[in-house]
Amino acid sequence: MAEMGADAIEYRQFRPEDAEPCRELIHSLLGEMLPHCTDAFESLDDEARQKLMDALESHMSGLPLASTFCIVAVDDGRIVGMGALDGRIVRRMYVNLQRQGEGIGKAIYRKLEAEGRRRGLQSLQLHASINAVGFYQRVGFGRTGEKTWNLNGSIVRNVLMAKAL
Ligand SMILES: CC(C)(COP(=O)(O)OP(=O)(O)OC[C@H]1O[C@@H](n2cnc3c(N)ncnc32)[C@H](O)[C@@H]1OP(=O)(O)O)[C@@H](O)C(=O)NCCC(=O)NCCS
Repeated sequence: MAEMGADAIEYRQFRPEDAEPCRELIHSLLGEMLPHCTDAFESLDDEARQKLMDALESHMSGLPLASTFCIVAVDDGRIVGMGALDGRIVRRMYVNLQRQGEGIGKAIYRKLEAEGRRRGLQSLQLHASINAVGFYQRVGFGRTGEKTWNLNGSIVRNVLMAKAL
């Protein structure tokens, strides 16, 4: 039987064939994030929510993961988590909903931070989804501000965070 938990997982760098499973992982989690970050999300109908998700996915596809230092967590051949370092910015931290809380996100983040240190970066930055702020605080980030942006007519809020290395 496969060992349970984050220790049984392989953490490796992104490969081109990971693009579609990573897209699916992100897609599966948008519904978890958006209600926390979008003003008046509850008042949107299904069509408006779908449009918002499509707009966010389209925005995200503007960053090819292959152009970043991207780590995927693989369990039994399946990608269960991911995270990317894009310059000094941490992006695309996602862990499968059923696997959250096992330490996978932290293990991925540690690899990104180690790469940042290896590159001689003095700090890391990120735009946190509101629901993920506690996680980032746990790995040492502090709040530096807030960013709001207009996504398909909805106001989406992110918390700006940074960590000195
Ligand atoms: C945010 C996310 C990547 C964290 O990954 P995870 O694997 O669940 O996190 P871990 O299990 O590694 O947690 C590491 C630590 O952070 C804590 N933590 C995790 N999520 C937390 C949260 N939302 N609030 C407070 N603490 C949190 C854990 O309790 C753990 O603490 P410990 O070190 O004392 O044990 C994951 O919850 C996720 O994919 N969320 C949905 C997508 C998302 O919002 N991504 C961020 C986009 S900016």
